[in-house]
Amino acid sequence: MEIRIEKIASPKAKPEDESKLGFGHIFTDHMFIMDYDAGKGWHDARIVPFGDISISPASMVLHYAQEIFEGLKAYRTPDGGIQFFRPIENFKRLNVSAERLVIPQLPVEDGLKALHALVELDKDWVPSAEGTSLYIRPFIFADDPYIGVRPAEHYYFMIIMSPSGAYYASGLDPVGIYVETNYVRSVKGGTGFTKTGGNYAASLAGQDEAHRQNYSQVLWLDGIERKYIEEVGSMNIFFVIDGEVVTPELRGSVLSGITRKSSLELCRKWGMKVSERAITIQEVAEAYDSGKLEEVFGTGTAAVISPVGRLKWGDKIMEINGNKIGAVTQRLYDTMTGMQYGKLPDDMGWIEKL
Ligand code: COI
Repeated sequence: MEIRIEKIASPKAKPEDESKLGFGHIFTDHMFIMDYDAGKGWHDARIVPFGDISISPASMVLHYAQEIFEGLKAYRTPDGGIQFFRPIENFKRLNVSAERLVIPQLPVEDGLKALHALVELDKDWVPSAEGTSLYIRPFIFADDPYIGVRPAEHYYFMIIMSPSGAYYASGLDPVGIYVETNYVRSVKGGTGFTKTGGNYAASLAGQDEAHRQNYSQVLWLDGIERKYIEEVGSMNIFFVIDGEVVTPELRGSVLSGITRKSSLELCRKWGMKVSERAITIQEVAEAYDSGKLEEVFGTGTAAVISPVGRLKWGDKIMEINGNKIGAVTQRLYDTMTGMQYGKLPDDMGWIEKL
């Protein structure tokens, strides 16, 4: 894959106060874009100034949501370097999503090459203030101007990048999570294990209700029995119950999070009792009542490791660990971010330097 580069004529001003970046509002100077046409494959890889793109009102993605995406970050290290955390996993997962959405596979090495080239060009946009990073959003969408329902024949693969702070306005303070009992996000056989926009669109009604009740996010239960815990809107979920670290197994409706997988690998390395298994909201409530629910936290690229301080299920409000970050959560957060920001040695082989 050869990448043509068209540089911006006058670079935009960078954010002055990196402590106020927020999440996902600001975009760097350039973006990556490549076309796919049936019979021709991926072609015309290019980096161009970040800006609007023109698509037909009939573009298939607008009507039938044939779209997938990824999320990863570039981190600034103390010596001024830049590094990624397991980026190969993102491009492998993009292809898992692609298969389910009948989108053509993107060679992993092309994804990584595009990532490195774009970050290299916009490297001055990687922020350095505590807790900030360059959030990177690769995505593929269907673009045939056609309103019949079928897999498209023309796609775009793009990467855009946004210097960002914490995903939750509360930073590392515990978040409140609302257990959704009315709507469901996904069922086995559906698209819940993929990163496709439709999963997130379907989650908005629940998220709206959570916000109305002053909770940050929704905890989804399984779509059939409505009792097994699946995941939170933008992260996977973990519980520490009587010394056991538990997260729902990947049952076809749960996203295979890279931070989830990394947390499991670290906890196992530390000799903790770790289970990927079915867990019901009832079990969590009973553990809470008997004083055995020690910690709850979410894991995600954007969310990193987020302590959960309150869980609301129906009329029951569970305040976890006195609404304070717990020991396992803190250790995972410190270790993961330590490696990501190059402050701790990478003894897991997870870091890739720019
Ligand atoms: C991520 O953690 O990168 C995600 O994709 C979650 C997102 C919906 C903000």
